[in-house]
Amino acid sequence: PTHSRLRHFLADDDLTWSEQREVLELAAVLKADPYSRQPLAGPQSVAIIFDKPTLRTQASFTAGVAALGGYPMLVDGRLAQVGVRESVPDTARVLGRMTTAIVWRTYAQSALEEMAAHAGVPVVNALTDAYHPCQILADLLTIAEHTGGFTADGPALSGRTLAYVGDGANNMAHSYLLGGALAGLHVRIGAPEDYQPDPAVVKRAAALAAGTGGSVTVLEEATAAVTGADVVATDTWVSMGQEDEKDEREAPFRPFQVNAELLDSAEEGAVVLHCLPAYRGKEITDEVIEGPASRVWDEAENRLHAQKAILTWLVDR
Ligand code: NVA
Repeated sequence: PTHSRLRHFLADDDLTWSEQREVLELAAVLKADPYSRQPLAGPQSVAIIFDKPTLRTQASFTAGVAALGGYPMLVDGRLAQVGVRESVPDTARVLGRMTTAIVWRTYAQSALEEMAAHAGVPVVNALTDAYHPCQILADLLTIAEHTGGFTADGPALSGRTLAYVGDGANNMAHSYLLGGALAGLHVRIGAPEDYQPDPAVVKRAAALAAGTGGSVTVLEEATAAVTGADVVATDTWVSMGQEDEKDEREAPFRPFQVNAELLDSAEEGAVVLHCLPAYRGKEITDEVIEGPASRVWDEAENRLHAQKAILTWLVDR
């Protein structure tokens, strides 16, 4: 199909706040009525490529594409060796001729941007070193479900406070900043001194927050970040590709563990999110992830609904 208004989802702020809200509301519709939209009927193919490990992302994109009437074309990253055996632009042009959209998990954001520039079909970020925007859509849907729904109008989740503690420099932190600010959240990051967010991303998020009534606060302390928060989120201290840094990261990150004591400083009834995989005893305790505040399984399920929504929004235009 020809895309008269070709759009991509490479970073959280590729959507405006109203577009983000539209996608989140569509996700809720698809969750309630999973086969109600068939934008990939044919079946049309969606290429799904992984250059890094995956469980949820592969399961949710393949199941999601099938539920939308399409064919999930898994392209093995180890065989294709995108950017090694064949350049990114060449790969993009070949896949673009055979598919309706391309979903790619890789390292460099610049490679993903190059794919988008040459594919001729929508490209979706299934995680890069820089961002994980599909996860944030799932998280925002989960927050809506567990903290009082979408706001009546305006940005999706105006006024609620989300605290993320842990690695401030990783893809999740950056996507919480951008996607959270877009949703009208007050986003607080608590991260060790040497693992603070990219200042350019903080600046972009602050500019978005100025337009949505949200806010962005970056701290070097966990308790201050979590105090009064409605949502407490964390992620692994060692992201994919950083395995060599495992030992050196242990000491600086220790004070940022999400445990019962830290959770005590959050708002009464606060919910806990974690994109998984979780390392119990490291960034989160077993007690918290298995406890009453945890919404991590709903969050994981919501990947499916959120990604069906963004795919539908991108291809059905
Ligand atoms: N920050 C983590 C997220 C995993 C879904 C990583 O990049 O490994």
